[in-house]
Amino acid sequence: MERTLVLIKPDGVRRNIIGEVISRIERKGLKIVAMELRTLDEETAKAHYEEHVEKPFFSSLVEFITGGPLVAMVVEGNRAIEAFRSLAGATDPVLAAPGTIRGDYGLDVQANIVHGSDSTYSAEREIKLFFPDLA
Ligand code: TYD
Ligand code: MG
Repeated sequence: MERTLVLIKPDGVRRNIIGEVISRIERKGLKIVAMELRTLDEETAKAHYEEHVEKPFFSSLVEFITGGPLVAMVVEGNRAIEAFRSLAGATDPVLAAPGTIRGDYGLDVQANIVHGSDSTYSAEREIKLFFPDLA
C-alpha cells in the first residue's frame, strides 16, 4: 500500500467540485485516510512548493494556493501516487485528456484544481507537512 497527498486547490473548492473529485478517488478504489479543509499560510505554501522556488510562477502560485480554503487529504491504495496523477491528468488542463479531472474541469495551468504528490519522496515530505500527526 502506498500513500499520496492530494489537494483540492482553492479553485476546486470555490467551484463546488469537492464531491466530484472525491467521487472519482473513491470510484477508482483509493481510500481517503485523512482529510481537512483549511486555508494555507504563506510559510506552509512555500514549503509545499519548495521545488519550484526558482520558477517565474512561484510567487503567483503561492498567492493562488493561499487565496482560499483547500481540501487536503491523504489517499491510500496500490500505487496511489501514480493512480491519482493519472486521475488528475496533465499539469496544463488545456492539454489534459478529457476524462481526467483537469481535462474535464480546467483551462488554466495555475488553477488546475488538484495536486497529487509526484514520487514516494514527495509524498512522504508533503504528508508530513500537512498531517504531522498521522501515523
Ligand atoms: P508542477 O509540479 O510542474 O505540476 P503538477 O501539479 O502537475 O505536479 O507545478 C506545480 C503547480 O504549479 C502546477 O500544478 C500549477 C503551477 N504551474 C503554473 O502556475 N505555471 C506553470 O507554468 C507550471 C508548469 C505550473
Ligand atoms: Mg508537481
